[in-house]
Amino acid sequence: MRKLLLCMMAGVLGGCDAPQSEDERAALLPPTPAQIIFAEEAMPVDANLAEKYDRSCRGCHSLVDAAAPLTGQGAVWRVRLAERGWDGLLRSTRNGFNAMPVNGYCNDCSDADMVGLIEFMSGETKP
Ligand code: HEC
Repeated sequence: MRKLLLCMMAGVLGGCDAPQSEDERAALLPPTPAQIIFAEEAMPVDANLAEKYDRSCRGCHSLVDAAAPLTGQGAVWRVRLAERGWDGLLRSTRNGFNAMPVNGYCNDCSDADMVGLIEFMSGETKP
């Protein structure tokens, strides 16, 4: 929030690289209470993905404090997808990305599983 306000203020002064898209602006906002509850409770419908999500991704991606993009907070995922594409996000998942561990702790996840998990968490569908 503070970053957004600072950016808006700086934008008025003409000195800020202000966020461009609706998603970029929304991604700077903290998750809403409804998004937090959704992230805490949501599970993939598919039993295979649900088992893998629960065992591997959920511990970080359902928690606001984990600094991981939150399951169901679409804008933060769309900004990442716009930057790196599906292949880039899959690569980050396989190789690890900053505090995101290699394979997200799911060493038996296939590429199709990973795409399904990212689709579930982002709410987006891989074309
Ligand atoms: C130990 C915590 C942790 C676990 C477990 C975890 N993640 Fe993450 N994940 C993170 C964090 C933190 C980030 C943000 C990293 C950053 O942007 O610096 C992240 C980011 C991501 C991204 C975005 C990468 C990008 O390029 O922007 C994807 C995709 C992702 N995780 C998928 C998964 C999947 C799929 C699983 C389960 C198989 C999983 N994660 C498990 C912590 C975790």
